[in-house]
Amino acid sequence: MARIIAGIGSSHVPAIGAAIDNGKTEEPYWKRIFSGFEKSQAWMRETKPDVAIVVYNDHASAFSVEMIPTFALGCAAEFPPADEGWGPRPVPVVKGYPSLASHIAQSVILDEFDLTICNKMEVDHGMTVPMNLLFGKVDKNAHWPCPVIPLAVNVVMYPPPTGHRCYMLGKAIRKAVESYPEDLNVVIFGTGGLSHQISGPRAGLINSKWDKAFLDNLSKDPQKLAKVPHVDYMREAGAEGIEMVMWLVMRGALDDKVDEVYRFYTVPASNTAVGHIILANRPRTAKPAGGYKHAAKHKPAAKHKRAAARAKPALIRSR
Ligand code: DHB
Ligand code: FE
Repeated sequence: MARIIAGIGSSHVPAIGAAIDNGKTEEPYWKRIFSGFEKSQAWMRETKPDVAIVVYNDHASAFSVEMIPTFALGCAAEFPPADEGWGPRPVPVVKGYPSLASHIAQSVILDEFDLTICNKMEVDHGMTVPMNLLFGKVDKNAHWPCPVIPLAVNVVMYPPPTGHRCYMLGKAIRKAVESYPEDLNVVIFGTGGLSHQISGPRAGLINSKWDKAFLDNLSKDPQKLAKVPHVDYMREAGAEGIEMVMWLVMRGALDDKVDEVYRFYTVPASNTAVGHIILANRPRTAKPAGGYKHAAKHKPAAKHKRAAARAKPALIRSR
């Protein structure tokens, strides 16, 4: 059986991608941001997920004002980086996982969430920047550490889905993953945000108090967070702050009670408040995070104990 072991929230500011691509990560402005992801990259290397589901938004790269699906699942074998105006980012093509993606599409659609199925799709900074933040810089000719299933959410043209709809979709995705027969450790990313507004009289708006309360509720009281209406995001977090509803898909796919493994918040990156969180499900099943490599020589009972001990997170916080 496949299982979701953890959820990751991360901002997707495009200038972070440009800083990586242009070798500026050691400059003080950028180092402040990248140093907040060092522990997360170590966690990711240790966790070694078999697959990542990345909930993200397209910024008129694969879709446009002519056609914009509310929820679009990438079922293709690969997703090339999109040209966002200055050529595609120098990152590897993202490899998909078509069999699990098709299984999720079937399960979720039969559960009455009407996804669009994408068998060909390019992916923009909304997806590749959070992947870089968690997996580090990956050479264009190398491979991302695991296959990825993209789930694109419309947060660019009114009306986006509600936070509650996103949260419920997360639950349906979890059910889909858990009914997939292969033994896979899956992580799910919720991306975008946190507070920011890019244009208009409120351009530059950042609301740290709102962002921190969002992270607190995401961790401890997601049901309350799922009830927050669009207008609150717009007023408190700015027009582009609505991207934050995507984090609720990730949260819906986790247990009600989770362990907060890590949190990072800094202001600003470009126009945006950068937020990041790692939330782990408490281990219930056989395969330990990081695979079987050490546990294999032990009897199943011992293996369970070791998996539980290893997956117990050290609470590392940075705010
Ligand atoms: C910025 C942030 C975004 O989320 C985005 O998609 C584009 C730009 C910014 O802060 O500049
Ligand atoms: Fe964005």
